[in-house]
Amino acid sequence: MSRVLDGVAIAAEIKAEVAAEVSQLAAQGIRPGLAAVLVGNVAASEIYVRSKVKTCADLGLYSEMITPPETVTTEEMLTLVADLNAREDIDGILIQLPLPGHVDTKRLLDAVSPEKDVDGFHPVNAGRLQAGRLSGKSSALVPCTPAGVIEILKRSGIAIAGQHAVVVGRSDIVGKPAAMLLLHQNATVTICHSKTQDLPSITRQADILVAAIGRAGFITPEMVKPGATVIDVGINRITDRAEFEKFFAGDEKRAESFSKRGSTLVGDVHPQAFAVAGAYTPVPGGVGPLTIAMLMANTVRAARMRRGL
Ligand code: GUN
Repeated sequence: MSRVLDGVAIAAEIKAEVAAEVSQLAAQGIRPGLAAVLVGNVAASEIYVRSKVKTCADLGLYSEMITPPETVTTEEMLTLVADLNAREDIDGILIQLPLPGHVDTKRLLDAVSPEKDVDGFHPVNAGRLQAGRLSGKSSALVPCTPAGVIEILKRSGIAIAGQHAVVVGRSDIVGKPAAMLLLHQNATVTICHSKTQDLPSITRQADILVAAIGRAGFITPEMVKPGATVIDVGINRITDRAEFEKFFAGDEKRAESFSKRGSTLVGDVHPQAFAVAGAYTPVPGGVGPLTIAMLMANTVRAARMRRGL
């Protein structure tokens, strides 16, 4: 039987630690604050941002949600970011992506003060991560999802040092920073992507396989080394019955929920591939919950660093 790595439980552990830190800071008159910017009416983004703001309230952080209309211009967004950069009560700025096509996303992310960049998307933070500046003054704020991947591995007692970690996907948000974090934990790291030749021969070498491709069920059983740890970062919504059968044939519990809701979530790893793994993160309930927990941790860290604590 493969071991299930419970992201919900690990996220709860981290959130409890953050809440304890928040009450310590409160005793010093400090309340970490997060500004979450949600542009337009993308349903999925709205669910994520609401969840982030609610978690702030649960843990005792200050938060506010700013909701410019879909028609907002890059210049208006730059003014908003400049205001948030200057505000003393805001420690973290999160601009939910994707933004509407007419907004210059790169320019905007570059305008966020690196000290308040709790998503870790600013080139200064990417550079600090690459340089291995992960603690102390002026250290990197690390992107939340890859930071969560490391927390899952560490808190589950899975060895990283000396292991071959294969990351499939090279996005700036997940793949690249995940590879860099694994490297700093002394893994031997291979990054694969859409142009990689004979991908299965490489993924089969992985002691730790991180799937961050954004394609439902892309990692099939024959791509996994028996006993490997498989971290599934993908969250893909399936609404088509035939596709559902392709992934979950015979899974009665899933079928019941699919019939009721008309959709289900599948990761980048085919559910049958989990059976080959020694340990794996399920979807939902694996990496997903860590993203918000690490955002909270980053906001508290940003609040401390900005005050030289
Ligand atoms: N959109 C999808 N994932 C993320 C994330 O981690 N941060 C932000 N800001 N937007 C996202």
